[in-house]
This record gives sequence, C-alpha cells and structure tokens, in this order.
Amino acid sequence: MKPKKDLLSIYELSKETIEDLFVRAIELKKKQKSGKIYHPLKGKTLGMVFEKPSTRTRVSFEVGMFQLGGLALYMRWKDTQLGRGESIADTARTLSRYLDSIMIRTFSQDTIEEFARNATVPVINGLTDLCHPCQILADLLTIREKRGTLRGLKATYIGDGNNIAHSWISAALRLQFDLTLACPKSQSPLQFHLERAQREATSKITLLNDPYEAVRDAHVISTDTWVSMGQEKEYRERIRIFKNFQVNSKLVEAADKDVLVMHCLPAHRGEEITDEVMDGEHSVIFDQAENRLHIQKAILEWQMGN
Ligand code: CP
Ligand code: NVA
Repeated sequence: MKPKKDLLSIYELSKETIEDLFVRAIELKKKQKSGKIYHPLKGKTLGMVFEKPSTRTRVSFEVGMFQLGGLALYMRWKDTQLGRGESIADTARTLSRYLDSIMIRTFSQDTIEEFARNATVPVINGLTDLCHPCQILADLLTIREKRGTLRGLKATYIGDGNNIAHSWISAALRLQFDLTLACPKSQSPLQFHLERAQREATSKITLLNDPYEAVRDAHVISTDTWVSMGQEKEYRERIRIFKNFQVNSKLVEAADKDVLVMHCLPAHRGEEITDEVMDGEHSVIFDQAENRLHIQKAILEWQMGN
C-alpha cells in the first residue's frame, strides 16, 4: 500500500513536493481561468471538520472540490459526536470509511496528529494553533507569481509569533529564502520551532523586536491579526502589546521600493494593518486569498488523484 499523503505542516513536506504543488497550482489556475472543465476527482469526497470559524478555508476547499468534480462535506466539530466526547481515534477510523480525504481546523496540533495517525485516508491541516500550512503555500505561490522566484528574497513577518509565523519559519527552512521576524519579546514564536529551523536552514532566519530594522531591504512584508481565534478575552492586553507593530505606510516606506505586502486575512483594519496599506499599491492580499483555491486544488489532486 502506498503511504498516505498527509499535509499536517510545511516542515513535513519536502522541497520537491512543495515545488510540484506550485507548478500544478499554476496549471490548475490557468485551466480554471480558461473555462476548461476538469474533473480528476469525480466520485471523491472531502470531509471538512471545523472547530473554529472560517470564511476562506471553508469556501476555497468546498469550491475546489466542486471544480475538480468531487464533493466536500462541511461538519462543525460540536455538531458531530466529537462534541459529545467521541474519541478522535474512533472518529478518524469511522470517517475514513466514507471519505477520501479529511481537512481539519482545530486548536491543538496534537489533535490533528492523532487524527492522522488513526485515519486511513490523508488528512489536511486547515489551521491549528501551531501552524497554517495551506495558507503559507498560497502566500508563497503568490510571491512566486509576482516575483518569479523565492530565491534571493528577503521576507519579513511583523507581529504575533503565532501559527502564521511558525509556518513562515518552516517555509524559509524548506525553500531557502531569508526570513526576518519582528515580534514583541513576550510574543515570540515557539523557541523550539525557531531554533530547529535556524539549525537546519541554509537561509537566514532571524528574530528581532524592531519592525523598522526588520523591514530594511525587505521584498515581502507579511502580518496577521494580533488576536487569534481563541484569544478574544486577551483583546485589550494584546492591542497594547502590539501597538508598535502596525504595518502602516511609514513601515512600508522603510522596505524595498517594490515590496509586496501580505496578510492571510481576516484583517483588523486600523490594528495590525492600516486601510491605506491594505488597499495600497504594494498590497497583494486578495491575490493571496484567491491562491488558497488554486494551491488547495493542487493539494487535493496530489492526495486523491491517480
Ligand atoms: N486565512 C484563513 O484561513 O481565513 P479563514 O479563517 O477565513 O479560513
Ligand atoms: N492567526 C490567525 C490566523 C487566521 C487565519 C488565527 O489563528 O486566528
């Protein structure tokens, strides 16, 4: 039996697999734009289990499956028997008998790993507190489209050392571009995650506390919300901690003149990013959002196609 192709984090993917996904995503995007009907996943089903809200992830996976000829099922965690305490392992075993792939958005990375260990079909991480691999693949695809290559680029990430930051770190490790993060000291990415990447990387992965120093000569500035899903009670405190980490015009002007500004969305305009920058000439934010669809179609085809 062939090993199943889980996508639990960028760290677990090889550089070759990531490159293949980019190439395929661009082909699928072209096909779609030209109006070609292409149904390689006819008869296949994707289950999507959400323990947190979503706009982009849900819609892009659901539409992606439809465009590939398959079916996607949306399940709210708490409306399944998981919400009443059925075990992760039994749920994974059961769902594997109906579905060809399962996407999960949940809190703990351990949950998704346990799910994947017990599922006999491939599992996709649709966001955990640790990482958001589908998002970063879409972001890198966007940079590749805009700049031709990731090689030689300096990317920066400004703000919270959260799931998005962790996926940027793994991406820099796998794809060998330089990455500088600027985070408040108390909100650094997980030390083991950063140090492992710094040890294994051939590119430079640097953590600073000053956003202006970080964006010097940067080709990419990316950011994310200061208050992730599940942290709502900490809102006031977090706004205070992050107030000097806003991506605004002044910060963008301190970077390379052709810098790309990125945000995984949803954005909190006026907090981590200003209207002016979000809607400005450097922003590729909605191209990024669109590319979720194309890269995830490549992922679905990679997992379930022949
Ligand atoms: N970026 C992202 O994953 O968006 P959603 O939370 O809307 O899915
Ligand atoms: N860090 C954010 C990303 C949302 C796509 C969160 O986890 O809420």
